[in-house]
Amino acid sequence: MKILVTGAKGMLGQDLCPILEDSGFDVIETDIDSMDITDIKSVENTIKQNNPDCIIHCAAYTNVDKAEEEQEIAFKINAKGTKNIAEISKKLNITVIYISTDYVFDGKKEGNYIPSDKPNPINIYGKSKLDGEKEIEKCEKYYVIRTSWLYGHHGKNFVETMLSLKDKEEIKVVDDQRGCPTWTVELSNAINNIIENELPYGIYHICGSGNTTWYDFAKKIFELSNLKVNLKPCSSNEYKTKAKRPANSTMENNKSCRSWESALKEYLELRCE
Ligand SMILES: NC(=O)c1ccc[n+]([C@@H]2O[C@H](COP(=O)([O-])OP(=O)(O)OC[C@H]3O[C@@H](n4cnc5c(N)ncnc54)[C@H](OP(=O)(O)O)[C@@H]3O)[C@@H](O)[C@H]2O)c1
Repeated sequence: MKILVTGAKGMLGQDLCPILEDSGFDVIETDIDSMDITDIKSVENTIKQNNPDCIIHCAAYTNVDKAEEEQEIAFKINAKGTKNIAEISKKLNITVIYISTDYVFDGKKEGNYIPSDKPNPINIYGKSKLDGEKEIEKCEKYYVIRTSWLYGHHGKNFVETMLSLKDKEEIKVVDDQRGCPTWTVELSNAINNIIENELPYGIYHICGSGNTTWYDFAKKIFELSNLKVNLKPCSSNEYKTKAKRPANSTMENNKSCRSWESALKEYLELRCE
């Protein structure tokens, strides 16, 4: 089976591609230099040339705060770019897997979000990703995979940011937003499982099991790294960001990934090797 991956040079793509290859899939890696998803001709030519059975669409505009200022670019990549992928996939009868986000939700629900919950994004990034979901849902053979709080060895992420701050006098982290930290390797294995087992098309939530606040996530990172730091909780009001974030974006994951603490422990151990 031939799988074309968009955004293959991104944080998720770099873990996903080798995992798919290890499973025996023929993987075609693309990124903006080889296929700009906002250019319909580039998308059509690349897909026709490679003739994949499945496309895993990881490419995205992912800077949540900057998206508030660069709305046009965020929508061009996340909505229009995804529309291009969806249209060609539909035309050529290719299965498409779209990686989406917990930030399609407004965070007002008490308890875990399930795939049938109504999205209502409160920031530009979430709105642009939801527009992407709607385009993908026009395909016949599609999966929308919502994930959250991603970290991996090949990109900028919260775990690495926290570790880079270890020598600061004081580190303040918000304790009024809850979510599910997810290691890119765990997500990649779950995507691989969906394809291998030909699970039914539709929307899936794939994230670390359990949930936490950014503050407790940071606390765990330092604890597992044996680092003593002066970590202080603060509120979202105190730590202002350009983009609003949902207070609760925890998702029911149907045991698709192990506990976020266990995955984090392995991530940190591998980081030290
Ligand atoms: N990171 C998270 O916490 C998180 C949480 C939930 C969901 N997600 C979703 O998970 C997916 C993977 O995220 P990630 O963290 O791996 O993102 P990432 O590291 O930012 O990777 C995205 C990749 O897409 C590429 N790209 C950007 N514009 C493109 C275009 N016009 N054409 C082709 N490629 C383009 C980027 O290239 P450049 O680097 O050159 O721009 C980058 O290589 C995304 O769909 C994201 O929305 C992420």
